[in-house]
Amino acid sequence: MKPRNLTRIVITGFMGAGKSSVARELARLLHDSFVDLDDEVTRAEGRTPRELIDEEGEPYFREAETRALRAALEEGTARVIALGGGAVSCAATRELLARRNCLTIWLDAPFESCWQRIAEDDARPFARDRETARRLYEERRKFYSLADYRVEIGAGRSIESVTSEIREVVRSRND
Ligand code: S3P
Repeated sequence: MKPRNLTRIVITGFMGAGKSSVARELARLLHDSFVDLDDEVTRAEGRTPRELIDEEGEPYFREAETRALRAALEEGTARVIALGGGAVSCAATRELLARRNCLTIWLDAPFESCWQRIAEDDARPFARDRETARRLYEERRKFYSLADYRVEIGAGRSIESVTSEIREVVRSRND
């Protein structure tokens, strides 16, 4: 596929913040496509993030995640990319985002609403109990805050309202 020069819109934030849903809706509004990095990792590695983390450990998974992001940015055509919640904790991934033409958006959702979603399934090895998830949530804020733009996700805020705020940011950057 032909690489694109257009700014990629990269959605970051903690597990359960709503990254994939927002990315999907934003792509729809922009009449463009999106990819979810967890899905890209699964496709490339033949195992889910949970399997990779449990079977190979976190460093292996982070390398696979960085590779998948590089491929999405260099060879993929999707305009909107939803990262996994821990992607920006990896220096190589942060460097990649800084070097490529990316507008990074942090979905800053309260811990409680993230936790509610996390607790619904067993897919997140780094958040198997509330206290571990809470600690990670606090530790990672310094990485999320490096994003170009922060969207505050108050309780009950709709996906439509979040995506239209992001669309305005994209518009204001004349992209
Ligand atoms: C992770 C978040 C997950 C997935 C993996 C690791 C993390 O993605 O990439 O389980 O380190 O926070 P979501 O944020 O989409 O759940």
